[in-house]
Amino acid sequence: MTTDTPILEIKGLTMNFGGIRALDNLDLQIRKGEIVALIGPNGAGKTTFFNCLTGIYKPSAGELLLTPPGQTTRRLNGLKPNRVTQQGLARTFQNIRLFPNMTVLENVMIGRHCRTRAKVLGAIFRNKKTVQEEKEIVALAFKILEKIGLADMVNEFAKNLPYGAQRRLEIARALATEPNILLLDEPAAGMNPQETAELDNLITEIRDDGLSILLIEHDMKLVMSLSDHIFVVDYGKKIAEGSPDQIRNNPAVIKAYLGEDV
Ligand SMILES: Nc1ncnc2c1ncn2[C@@H]1O[C@H](COP(=O)(O)OP(=O)(O)OP(=O)(O)O)[C@@H](O)[C@H]1O
Ligand SMILES: [Mg+2]
Repeated sequence: MTTDTPILEIKGLTMNFGGIRALDNLDLQIRKGEIVALIGPNGAGKTTFFNCLTGIYKPSAGELLLTPPGQTTRRLNGLKPNRVTQQGLARTFQNIRLFPNMTVLENVMIGRHCRTRAKVLGAIFRNKKTVQEEKEIVALAFKILEKIGLADMVNEFAKNLPYGAQRRLEIARALATEPNILLLDEPAAGMNPQETAELDNLITEIRDDGLSILLIEHDMKLVMSLSDHIFVVDYGKKIAEGSPDQIRNNPAVIKAYLGEDV
């Protein structure tokens, strides 16, 4: 294994829904500390890609290979979503999925659940270990909320947060699972320019902490500003990949977006 081994390597990913081929033989790699974007028109298959990767859908074909830093390669194929999270992949959803009637702090603490040891008995009898673990979870949640800029809202119900803050809270919850790879599905959707600029900084900070980020996003300014590498899909097929400059000037990409030869 060299330092150049991708932390995540997808080979030949294919997903059929009845007669629809939503993903067609897709290859994608991401390395440690990279921000990689997956872009393409509506219905291109981007969310399906995340759903295959995180165990929500079972791919029709393909290999999902994870090589955490300093560890051996393992297959993610066939793992349940919670197992995928334990392997170090965390995601946010295109449609916000928070617990609306729980507080900001509780929403983040739930993200942590996948890595805690205390089980049902511990939770009922609240032994010393459980109490200690609970304290650690609260401390971690606070640390993440500070980073995300929501520390002054810990006791608000999630449903009362402004939209942009709800999207950031989803990222906080994903970070609470301590991932190596963060998958973001349209994190800037519905944000105003100020919120999008803050999101740009936040994603950069998360990357600087050593995470790899796979970003689905329609806001091209954000994509071009953040990405080290961009994959473009259309009708489930990869039509281009490269640096932001290469993608910006790629005729096939322009055609896919504008629907005409340029
Ligand atoms: N569970 C499903 N059953 C049947 N078809 C599906 C299913 N999920 C997705 N599809 C189809 O797969 C294709 C890709 O959808 P997907 O949601 O992945 O696109 P997308 O690139 O995320 O689009 P958008 O930018 O609008 O979010 C679409 O034709 C969609 O209708
Ligand atoms: Mg989508």
